[in-house]
Amino acid sequence: MTILVTGGAGFIGSNFVQNFIKSTDEMVVNVDLLTYAGNGENLASLENNSRHIFVKGDIGDYDLLSNLMCSHLPRAVLNFAAESHVDRSILAPDKFIKTNVLGTFNLLKCAQQYWDNSVGSEHFDFKFLHVSTDEVYGSLGPNDSPFTESHRYTPNSPYSASKAASDHFVRAWHHTYGLPVLTTNCSNNYGPYQFPEKLIPLVILNALQGEEIPVYGDGMQIRDWLHVNDHCSAISAVLKSGQAGEVYNVGGDSEVSNIEVVIKICKILDEMLPSIKGRYSRLISFVKDRPGHDRRYSINNRKIKKELGWRPVESFESGLRKTVKWYLNNKLWVKNVQSGSYRDWIKSQYNQDSKHR
Ligand code: NAD
Ligand code: DAU
Repeated sequence: MTILVTGGAGFIGSNFVQNFIKSTDEMVVNVDLLTYAGNGENLASLENNSRHIFVKGDIGDYDLLSNLMCSHLPRAVLNFAAESHVDRSILAPDKFIKTNVLGTFNLLKCAQQYWDNSVGSEHFDFKFLHVSTDEVYGSLGPNDSPFTESHRYTPNSPYSASKAASDHFVRAWHHTYGLPVLTTNCSNNYGPYQFPEKLIPLVILNALQGEEIPVYGDGMQIRDWLHVNDHCSAISAVLKSGQAGEVYNVGGDSEVSNIEVVIKICKILDEMLPSIKGRYSRLISFVKDRPGHDRRYSINNRKIKKELGWRPVESFESGLRKTVKWYLNNKLWVKNVQSGSYRDWIKSQYNQDSKHR
């Protein structure tokens, strides 16, 4: 059997593909455009694995996706591909609309056509799983209840608005055309292979390099952190046993303020790699806030726990320690990401220009 994954060279997608190949005997067709966030080195462990087929391509390319579906007959399509960074969406929203909205729309059209023309188990067992975010629900006050699956959509950034739009299209394709879709809305992930524009890897690497650790505003914004492996196991559980048309919130019951996250990382580094210049927390600097910054996210994960028996394995403490260790132990990955030379992989693989898209 085969699954088709999009965005599988990014942070969550590459962790998912590696875990999926390890724990099943299925084939994975992995379609990724290799934007600045896509990194072939995230998939180095699969280089000679005949169950992993990598295709450089855009989810907005109808012919490519249709041909891949018709030739590989996937039992499921999992859509991880997206522009994912909120700050980039504020500076330049266009790509977010193109990939997150129009790309998902295109993928739905391809999957619909493929599903309509399939027969037998290929038709009856098919699933379209859309990986989305808790940011579509907007921002919570300090005493508000965590987001349930029926929370009103109130996206506040161009990123979350584009993800919200994609979720609506996914829902509509089920309601109107019967496509067997599943949607997951997950909280903030952290773990190996996360691009260092996101808070946790940025803090680790800035601290190690003796650079300022930028904390937006007062640092009291709250995120509900989940280790990426726990997100991947939730996606596998939804793929296996989720009900078509349903939405599943995913989160780790780990609400932590940004300043606490930063202080925890500094303390772990003080212990693992003490600096002769003093404690890493000396580098913390409060900087201008993100425009429209959401104050608090919190996930009610009762539905996925009760209906699918999913549980997160890592606590924030254990997951954060493992993550800091991973960044300390993977200096070459870090160096290639920071120098931009991870993009040489595209050149050597595709003989192309490696400019950031
Ligand atoms: P990421 O930015 O690390 O990876 C995105 C991947 O998609 C990259 O490999 C990129 O090359 C690829 N991509 C971008 N545009 C593409 C296109 N047009 N066609 C094909 N591939 C394209 O993102 P991530 O953090 O791994 O997030 C993956 C998914 O999970 C996203 O849909 C995101 O909205 C969602 N999500 C992320 C988090 C989180 O904390 N990171 C939490 C919840 C949900
Ligand atoms: O909630 C899920 C979302 O989590 C995903 O859908 C997004 O793809 C993912 O990027 C993430 O969004 P955030 O905006 O919450 O993540 P980020 O790592 O950018 O920021 C986390 C918090 O830290 C946020 O409140 C902003 C703050 N921050 C971030 C950076 C990069 C800082 O204070 N300083 C920084 O330098």
